[in-house]
Amino acid sequence: MTRIAPLVAALVAATVAQQQDPGVIRDPGTYGPQVEIAHLYYDQWPTGIAVSRSGRMFSNYPPALDPMNQAYTVAEIFSNNTERPYPSAAINSPPGGRINNTVFPPTGAGLADYFIGVQSVVIDPADRLWVLDTGRVATQNGTQLTAAYGGPKLVGIDLQTNSVFQTIVFDPMAAPAVSYLNDVRFDLNPSITESGQGVAYITDSSPEAHNAIVVVDLGTGQAWRRLMNIPATQADEGFVPTIWGQPVYMNGTTGMPIGNVNFGADGIALSADGATLFFATTGGRELYSVPTERLRDQSPYAEILARGAVGFRGETGLKDGMETDTNNRIYAGNIEDNSLSSYNPETGILSTFVRDPRFSWTDTLSVGFDGYLYFTENQLWLSPSYQGGVDRRQKPYVLFRVKLPNGGTKVTQNAPGSNSTMRFRY
Ligand SMILES: *[C@@H]1O[C@H](CO)[C@@H](O)[C@H](O)[C@H]1NC(C)=O
Ligand SMILES: *[C@@H]1O[C@H](CO)[C@@H](O)[C@H](O)[C@H]1NC(C)=O
Ligand SMILES: *[C@@H]1O[C@H](CO)[C@@H](O)[C@H](O)[C@H]1NC(C)=O
Ligand SMILES: *[C@@H]1O[C@H](CO)[C@@H](O)[C@H](O)[C@H]1NC(C)=O
Ligand SMILES: *[C@@H]1O[C@H](CO)[C@@H](O)[C@H](O)[C@H]1NC(C)=O
Repeated sequence: MTRIAPLVAALVAATVAQQQDPGVIRDPGTYGPQVEIAHLYYDQWPTGIAVSRSGRMFSNYPPALDPMNQAYTVAEIFSNNTERPYPSAAINSPPGGRINNTVFPPTGAGLADYFIGVQSVVIDPADRLWVLDTGRVATQNGTQLTAAYGGPKLVGIDLQTNSVFQTIVFDPMAAPAVSYLNDVRFDLNPSITESGQGVAYITDSSPEAHNAIVVVDLGTGQAWRRLMNIPATQADEGFVPTIWGQPVYMNGTTGMPIGNVNFGADGIALSADGATLFFATTGGRELYSVPTERLRDQSPYAEILARGAVGFRGETGLKDGMETDTNNRIYAGNIEDNSLSSYNPETGILSTFVRDPRFSWTDTLSVGFDGYLYFTENQLWLSPSYQGGVDRRQKPYVLFRVKLPNGGTKVTQNAPGSNSTMRFRY
């Protein structure tokens, strides 16, 4: 080594340090149409959003994912950034509380006439509100208790009378104690079941990996599981998302083991013609589909045939909720990219729809009858279960909305009495 070499190196280093950025190309951070704030949540932590034909809005607040969600688990939300328990404070307040402490270990309360732990609210094509109750609740340190019979259920509410018109309580065959009924889509076409009242398709995101699609005949109340405990409905082993530059693990209170983000089948969307169900876990980046006919089948071969009919649609990013519009585009968050994307089932191509640095956990999407896509941003990954017991979320949580392209709006053609002329190829 010559004596001059260190000097040259120092000179080069000094020169590099003095370089000015001439405007090196960089990530623009934003993309797409204007994003509007539709509601700010200052009270409880929301997941779901449902928007009715007249523009009424509803959210839910699962106590299994945030033990502070106690006062109510379903609310109507108002334009002055307030929320009120819906349809009543009483149905949101199980007598004796949400946890049954008379058994050991404790479970969620098994009360069919009350909301225990609601993970989703959805407006069906006939403008009725459905409440999907997991029956599960977490203790203060984030430990998720199992459900008891009476907890897991689907409750239909008439928005004219604000009263319950139907309660379908799931038995443990359809919703075992470790199930976590996450999200639901409806096909009310009278011709698809003998009872003529249509069906509901529900994802079971069970953190204990008992994942499935639950199919419900809305006429008989009968429910059954399909695509049980297969890779398409289970979280990927070892999945680590990166959000805002940070790898994210399940990382709860001190003493709890560190694990992987492990939500199984979570987001769900029905093709505009009702023939195909799209679903995805929130423990991976894959998108899957299955013909709904295979899910409704109840023959002895039904589960085998359904498994064989699952289609892998490619990697479309980490997502939570999904939603379809009348242009048959499947919208979902692309959580690791601060964006929402749209998937075209006819070409198999994913496109970025809108991107914004305020996005980091797009939880639930809901297409309104007004042609807007509404979606909650709830910072889930900053909650204590992912941050070593430290709550890094900052209120307010936000409901955003964006106008859909090309006149897209809510799919209602599979409502009773409507024209089912729309058909798509896949
Ligand atoms: C917000 O709006 C609701 C519904 O109109 C009303 O009941 C409530 O009093 C309002 N709250 C405030 C703080 O203005
Ligand atoms: C609590 O569990 C016990 C034992 O299973 C049962 O008898 C009781 O009805 C349950 N109470 C509630 C509120 O779920
Ligand atoms: C969390 O709380 C549950 C019930 O309250 C308790 O059984 C468990 O030991 C707690 N876990 C930790 C790691 O503190
Ligand atoms: C878990 O959370 C703690 C506290 O925020 C943090 O120090 C630690 O790095 C986290 N570990 C992982 C693996 O995320
Ligand atoms: C159904 O579609 C046909 C053909 O497009 C149309 O003539 C008819 O008015 C529609 N009926 C309803 C109820 O929309």
